[in-house]
Amino acid sequence: MREITVPLGTRSYSILIAPKLLPKLGAHCAELKLGKRCAIITDKNVGPRYAKVAVKSLRAAGFEPVTITVAPGETAKSLKTVQACYDQLAAHRLERKSFIVALGGGVVGDLAGFVAATYLRGIAFVQVPTTLLAQVDSSVGGKVGVNLKAGKNLVGAFYQPRLVLCDLDTLKSLPPREYRAGLAEVIKYGIIYDRDLFARLERELPKLQKLDPKVVGEVVARCCEIKAEVVGQDETESGLRAILNFGHTIGHGLEAISRYGKYLHGEAISIGQVAAAELSAALLDFPELDTQRVADLFRRAGLPTSVDLNASELKKLFAAMCLDKKVSDGEIKFVLAKRIGEVVWGQRVSEDMIRATLNPSR
Ligand SMILES: NC(=O)c1ccc[n+]([C@@H]2O[C@H](COP(=O)([O-])OP(=O)(O)OC[C@H]3O[C@@H](n4cnc5c(N)ncnc54)[C@H](O)[C@@H]3O)[C@@H](O)[C@H]2O)c1
Ligand SMILES: [Zn+2]
Repeated sequence: MREITVPLGTRSYSILIAPKLLPKLGAHCAELKLGKRCAIITDKNVGPRYAKVAVKSLRAAGFEPVTITVAPGETAKSLKTVQACYDQLAAHRLERKSFIVALGGGVVGDLAGFVAATYLRGIAFVQVPTTLLAQVDSSVGGKVGVNLKAGKNLVGAFYQPRLVLCDLDTLKSLPPREYRAGLAEVIKYGIIYDRDLFARLERELPKLQKLDPKVVGEVVARCCEIKAEVVGQDETESGLRAILNFGHTIGHGLEAISRYGKYLHGEAISIGQVAAAELSAALLDFPELDTQRVADLFRRAGLPTSVDLNASELKKLFAAMCLDKKVSDGEIKFVLAKRIGEVVWGQRVSEDMIRATLNPSR
């Protein structure tokens, strides 16, 4: 088992990474000195597969778990579902010392984390991420929240879990498209922070795609290590943490204009990262060779690398990018790369430049 610490003083916590971890959930929770009652929040795809093992393990360790199952997919990240969760927590008399286990992908993690952050002004929660994206990204760092009609993640909090438990075996049941989408965040860590990781991904992508246990374990651990380091230095995103948004400015815009229907998050940020690499080449002397390596790796991972937008779609994309939380004083700021493994944030990029990058032929 690999153990990584997210260094946040008295709120520090461990990320545990290994196969066959879920049956040990109860034992690990027992070390946290929490109350007996707890709620597992999960969704309709994950619950039937894994909730039973989680419940059994928690019971064996002396806990009294109830299971709350929400609909799968982004729509569950709503205040309506939050309300339904509160009602069930109250019905089961969860109290200040009780805790929540988020068992599922990023949707469940963000939702359950927000419920934990606000129920009784905050109770403890444990992340058990079951998608690649959630294991390498969303379960670590304490950003929790839900969506409004006006946009994604507009209501939320910084609220750290007490433990993150990544059972690598859960990835085996993940639909291939979801796994590929997670690879987009994995590749991101190489570009923003670790040139060697990027080179390893180039070499070992086939093994990663085949879920080779050794490679998956090491790569997930390295991604978590990077996220832990970044969050440890800048928990609330006043600076460095912004680098995690590489490729996300355009990516979020694409998700928004397709109404979260066409692209998975990972697919949208794959296009966004390739575009950000091209912008970096134009504005920061990011080497041409690196631009090609970036596009090639996303392509080989089975992810989209470009979009064809007409004039009206482009207009909508800019409008959506301006609504994004990362915009301040109406100016769109980008994370750009100097070379693979090193990025800078807060870079101003003009609309014309973005237009030329996305649609070179128009
Ligand atoms: N908090 C953060 O820092 C952060 C970072 C990145 C993304 N996010 C959020 O994460 C969400 C996306 O997360 P996601 O990509 O994990 O999507 P998701 O939670 O919707 O999971 C994807 C799909 O896979 C299913 N699933 C999950 N685990 C499975 C398993 N082991 N076997 C079979 N099916 C499984 C789910 O039911 C769902 O249908 C978005 O809402 C995004 O905003 C948050
Ligand atoms: Zn992301």
